[in-house]
Amino acid sequence: MCGTDLVAQYIPRLLSPMLLLFIAVYHFIIIVLQTAVTRPWKLINIHYLRTKSFSRLWKENGAQMSQEMPAGTDSLLASVSGLVLDLGPGTGEILSRLNPSQILAVYGAEPAVDMHSKLRENVKKHGFDGKYTPMLCGAEPESLIPALAKCGMVTGDAAGEGVFDEICCIRVLCGIPRPRDTIQALYGLLKPGGRMIVCEHVVVPWRTEGSKMARFMQFVYTMIGWPFFMAGCELQRHTELWLREAAGREGWASVNLKYVEPKTAVPFIVGELRKRG
Ligand SMILES: C[S@@+](CC[C@H](N)C(=O)[O-])C[C@H]1O[C@@H](n2cnc3c(N)ncnc32)[C@H](O)[C@@H]1O
Repeated sequence: MCGTDLVAQYIPRLLSPMLLLFIAVYHFIIIVLQTAVTRPWKLINIHYLRTKSFSRLWKENGAQMSQEMPAGTDSLLASVSGLVLDLGPGTGEILSRLNPSQILAVYGAEPAVDMHSKLRENVKKHGFDGKYTPMLCGAEPESLIPALAKCGMVTGDAAGEGVFDEICCIRVLCGIPRPRDTIQALYGLLKPGGRMIVCEHVVVPWRTEGSKMARFMQFVYTMIGWPFFMAGCELQRHTELWLREAAGREGWASVNLKYVEPKTAVPFIVGELRKRG
């Protein structure tokens, strides 16, 4: 990369997450002020404030932040079919990229209650009325399994029941609790031959395709409050490793994951993992 390219492309991309962080801080301040006026007793509930402020950020900016998805995501989403688990759908911004005619039903695990009304609007708008069930729960098994049981999708506490043809992990695994265990439990919910589709930002692969500077910037953003203001979103997760490990000794039938923009501070892995049939 020549000097001009470095200044024109590389440095702005390393610094662009700072803008999002400023926006997140702005929404956090607004939520704190609103809460102080309307429900002052909630000010000691940090989880409430962080979730509310991220929901506000996403409701205002999610559509714009979804206009251009990391390379390869659109074709992956267009191929989704069968019985689907959509993790952390937020306001349903990706629904426009799915094809309802090849989908039997979708169960959306969205723990932020404030996202649900816009999610329902997008469900209608994109032709999923009657096919999409929003559930107020997280992806972690202790929250997801009871919610699925309530919908009649699993029989009880058995996280190993293969239920879904596809599980969509789109910009969500960065914020789930105990990611390793949760991903493993999600593997159990896939039918034999089922597919996990992934578009997730991850730790910079600085030893291979990434850069040390981008890895350093991830550390800096983390230190100055990214996870706090982004409702638990972590930049430095080894999600690819945890996804690969989730199949245990039997291994996945196939794994096709690619890095997108690995030299930036928010590199993505995009692709699919297929369970053995
Ligand atoms: C960055 S948004 C992405 C929304 C959507 N997947 C997309 O790509 O348009 C992350 C979403 O994950 C949700 N989320 C946070 N914690 C979660 C958890 N434990 N389980 C499932 N979803 C979670 C957030 O509420 C938010 O809606």
